[in-house]
Amino acid sequence: MIAVENISKNFGVTKAVQDISFKVEKGDVLGFLGPNGAGKSTTMRILTCYISADSGTASVAGFNIHENPVEVRRKIGYLPENNPLYMDMGLLEYVKFIAQMRNIPKAAVRSRVEQVIGMCGLESELSKDVGELSKGFRQRLGLAQALVHDPEVLILDEPTIGLDPHQIIEIRNLIKAIGREKTIILSSHILPEVSATCDRVLIINKGKLVGSGTPQELASMSHGGQVIMAGIRGPQQEVLAGLKGIDKLTDIKHLGEADGIHRFELRSDSVEELSEEVFFMVARSGWSLTELYRKSINLEDVFLDLTTREAQ
Ligand SMILES: Nc1ncnc2c1ncn2[C@@H]1O[C@H](COP(=O)(O)OP(=O)(O)OP(=O)(O)O)[C@@H](O)[C@H]1O
Ligand SMILES: [Mg+2]
Repeated sequence: MIAVENISKNFGVTKAVQDISFKVEKGDVLGFLGPNGAGKSTTMRILTCYISADSGTASVAGFNIHENPVEVRRKIGYLPENNPLYMDMGLLEYVKFIAQMRNIPKAAVRSRVEQVIGMCGLESELSKDVGELSKGFRQRLGLAQALVHDPEVLILDEPTIGLDPHQIIEIRNLIKAIGREKTIILSSHILPEVSATCDRVLIINKGKLVGSGTPQELASMSHGGQVIMAGIRGPQQEVLAGLKGIDKLTDIKHLGEADGIHRFELRSDSVEELSEEVFFMVARSGWSLTELYRKSINLEDVFLDLTTREAQ
């Protein structure tokens, strides 16, 4: 349904998007996950034909973004970042206006508008102007305008930003329900968000794709390794040399010293239990251990790992 090939975009010296390629199958919900400035919104703006890519190409529902931008836009419902709305229009008036802009036949406008207002839970707000809506309801209205022409593809830039926890759950459920029929790309920098709603996740950092997979696959990427936290009382250089002597430790980070105790974060790609080796090395050397435990790794760690490794 969506195919993106080697898209790049620079703003002056900023490499906002660098050679990104991916595919989204019909009916899939794909999440863009990445820290601020990663290039999520830029990629979405390229796909929705609001800005053009410097190089690379993409197609949406069979239409190319360079050759058929008008058709591409017709196929897409887009909730942009910052959700720009016409503040002094009435809510109903606004949705009707968008429906007309989207070329919905006159006779069908009323029923379609009622339908999306129901889907997005806006019934209680009908008497208000757009500018009078609370942030959460503005976000719902943004979703309603994206859905009104019943598009095949939805591109939602941070759909749950600014919502309260109840609304977040409602909007997530709404996205999941819509996702059964439609193809969706949504962005977020919140991990539980994408794992709750998406079939597949792309992790983007500094304009590059640094990881992809199902939420489960991403979590299991870390299952092969381990992180051990150790507090050791002993002379720093010798302790460090002792730790380096443990073959399977791939990364040794000195976190600091307090009262003669050095704290280390030890990483290994091995699944073998390494806490014991650390314990025996310390005991053999006549130092003492003040703490030794294995940190559990979750999706959050994978995300942090992938998005900081690139930055170094
Ligand atoms: N119109 C523009 N002019 C200049 N630089 C831009 C423009 N739009 C985006 N950028 C830059 O491109 C990079 C990517 O921005 P983008 O908005 O795509 O990030 P994002 O992943 O959506 O971040 P956030 O989570 O903060 O929304 C940033 O460094 C940003 O400053
Ligand atoms: Mg953004």
